[in-house]
Amino acid sequence: MIVAVIGAGTMGSGIAQTFASCDQVTKVYLCDFATEYAEAGKHKIVAALSKRIKKGKMTEQAAGAIIGKIVTGENEIAVDADLVVEAVTEKMEIKKDIFRKMQNVIVKNPDCIFASNTSSLSITELASGLQKPIVGMHFFNPAPVMKLVEVIAGLNTPDEVVEKIKEIAVALGKTPVQVKEAPGFVVNRILIPMINEAIQVYSEGVSDIAGVDSAMKLGCNHPMGPLELGDYIGLDIVLAIMNVLYEETGDSKYRPALLLKKMVRGHHLGVKTGIGFYDYSDGNKVPVDAKAE
Ligand code: CAA
Repeated sequence: MIVAVIGAGTMGSGIAQTFASCDQVTKVYLCDFATEYAEAGKHKIVAALSKRIKKGKMTEQAAGAIIGKIVTGENEIAVDADLVVEAVTEKMEIKKDIFRKMQNVIVKNPDCIFASNTSSLSITELASGLQKPIVGMHFFNPAPVMKLVEVIAGLNTPDEVVEKIKEIAVALGKTPVQVKEAPGFVVNRILIPMINEAIQVYSEGVSDIAGVDSAMKLGCNHPMGPLELGDYIGLDIVLAIMNVLYEETGDSKYRPALLLKKMVRGHHLGVKTGIGFYDYSDGNKVPVDAKAE
């Protein structure tokens, strides 16, 4: 199987690594709107695999085989893909435009499946105006590690496409869970409002950043605290999903925290910009309120 992953950011590169690690996949196109962005995504994969080699969890040969399957470039290179997984920014128009263009790129393979890694948007709306159906194939960060793939059918997604995506998820070593189309599906409908509430709790002064995170880690056995996880996901993504939940439902319980909006406007997006609720400069991870004291 040949796979094209469109978007070489955190999710796209993790998804490309996941596919390239699967025996049934012979080639993975990792694409972005400029080759240098796609190359940067491949570098992230090389770095992740190097860590595993250093830890003695992977041989250089196995890592080389994974990297050797990944071809980087602009979206137009993916002419013979069997599956396109779109993993670009969480904006409806950008995603639709990519699918529209990919219909003309994949000229060699009319059976190619189009999937979106959208974390909250309507699959039915994504497919509207396209000749091909779209299916939701939602991975979780870090994609090579997290076991779940949410599989989402839009109103016009054929059953056989949904079943094929579930089969592919199993071949990747993941557990597919089919969910109905709804804003945020299952995980993000529950997880992202929890992170938003943690931001609210912190901004009301109920506890400091380390306190909020320790409470949830030790009190609920979560591997990461909610503020740390928000930084890890990217606060721009957290805000985008809160906005989808709020706009689609009109329910005020999904109103984004004001501090979240301010941080996104100030480009304090978390790990990817080096600062969010924590400061990641110099390889450290220090709560920003602790630094201010
Ligand atoms: N590639 C391959 N392996 C990787 C990896 C990568 N990119 N990143 C981590 N790993 C591996 C590590 O090598 C390690 O493997 P071993 O156990 O074999 O040594 C394992 O994963 C654990 O990693 P670490 O030892 O570095 O760190 P950790 O034990 O602290 O775990 C974590 C890190 C897996 C991220 C853990 O903290 C965790 O599960 N956090 C919660 C993540 C989460 O909730 N994700 C969902 C976010 S929501 C989302 O993604 C949806 C959305 O639409 C917004």
